Amino acid sequence: METLRASTLNGTTGSWTTTPGFTEVESGLRAAATRVLDENWLGSSTVPSRGLYPHQWSWDSAFISFGLRHHAPERARLELLTLFSAQWPDGRVPHIVFNPDTPDEAYFPGPGFWHTGATSGLVQPPIHARAVWEVHQAAEDQSSAAEFLATLYPKLVAWHAYLLGNRDFGGRGLVSIVHPWESGMDNSPAWDGPLAHVRPVDPAQFIRRDLEHGDAADRPSDVDYGRYVRLAAGYRDVGYRDERWPLFGDGFTVEDPAFNALLADAELALGRIAGALGLPGAAAGHRETAARLTQALVETLWDDEAGFFFARDVRTGERAREYTCGGLIPLVLPGLPVAPALLATATGPRFGVGRVLGAPSYDLTAPGFDAARYWRGPSWFNVGWLVRLGLLAHGERALAERLRSDLLEAAWRADFAEYTDPLTGEGHGSRSFGWTAALTLDLLAESR
Ligand code: SER
Repeated sequence: METLRASTLNGTTGSWTTTPGFTEVESGLRAAATRVLDENWLGSSTVPSRGLYPHQWSWDSAFISFGLRHHAPERARLELLTLFSAQWPDGRVPHIVFNPDTPDEAYFPGPGFWHTGATSGLVQPPIHARAVWEVHQAAEDQSSAAEFLATLYPKLVAWHAYLLGNRDFGGRGLVSIVHPWESGMDNSPAWDGPLAHVRPVDPAQFIRRDLEHGDAADRPSDVDYGRYVRLAAGYRDVGYRDERWPLFGDGFTVEDPAFNALLADAELALGRIAGALGLPGAAAGHRETAARLTQALVETLWDDEAGFFFARDVRTGERAREYTCGGLIPLVLPGLPVAPALLATATGPRFGVGRVLGAPSYDLTAPGFDAARYWRGPSWFNVGWLVRLGLLAHGERALAERLRSDLLEAAWRADFAEYTDPLTGEGHGSRSFGWTAALTLDLLAESR
């Protein structure tokens, strides 16, 4: 870690972005990030990665739009409009929108698996309302920006209504996910307990296309994949109808703090959108929903002794006592009553925010911490970006600047890697990753 910092420009230690000479690096970094977004652009949406993820992913697109708005605002709008054009009649926004020009064998599970035509039937964390609001704010052309907002507002309302109306399996006012892929943090140790009873499909029955593009040591295991396939096929076989999803048997029903915190944050954004559209009553309603979600999060998922949010398995009612980065995400909520204790955990030995690179996806002190394996240790750029927003929401400006600097340095050194080792900065997963490049552009646009 110190080796990395000590090797900063001109041999100066300390914050990389305030080092003399950073401005030259900054323009190179901006140009390289822009190139990644241009190379990953398909014409109306962006692939997270040309090899590993050759379609449109829901939360990737939202994160990508935060960066695209600085480079090509009309493309940022189109990215989100394309995603929402695949919204289902029940309001859900599918986690993958398949690109018809990509061969079926380029990704597993591809369109043939899902039996829906053009999308998957799962969802991903709802950060879209924040994305729509911020993309709208960046627009130079006010009339297309207003039209964009008016077009997407009812779609966002329907999306949140699907989640709040169909997914409260626990009856406590929180949304449940039905698959680890819905968290976006696929092999997080928080899912190990709730997944333990799910019988893995034999790996001989499917082909892991991901291993054609990524090192197996950086990816989920075969047993994890076997469980992912079992659950996705099970949800498909009940017709993606939540009322038919089994709470028992081969099911997975979990209240994830990150998913719910991002929904509360998105309701706050919807409140701003409704306000801008001249709908003050609706705006107040969104703020109330955000407050209710925040309260339910604290009542159900907060552990006072641990100073942390843990996911809850709805089948057993038990919290998964694993310190994973999902438990840090509620920091984005400005009204979070437990923020001081959560900040202490974030900056303590388990996550080391401000002392390691980025925000690790798993407890640095846990025996199972693995600095390379997907969501079991590495720092992901989107999580660091969200934690930085959380630090700013709670007045931690110096720490937020430290994190911003570290994230930019990691992106630069690891060629916009999908994720990086929090201790060494070594890149893992795919390179030229969409949201890493996009959020780099967003952080560069922030004043120092
Ligand atoms: N993240 C999953 C994958 O690795 C799918 O959403 O393919």
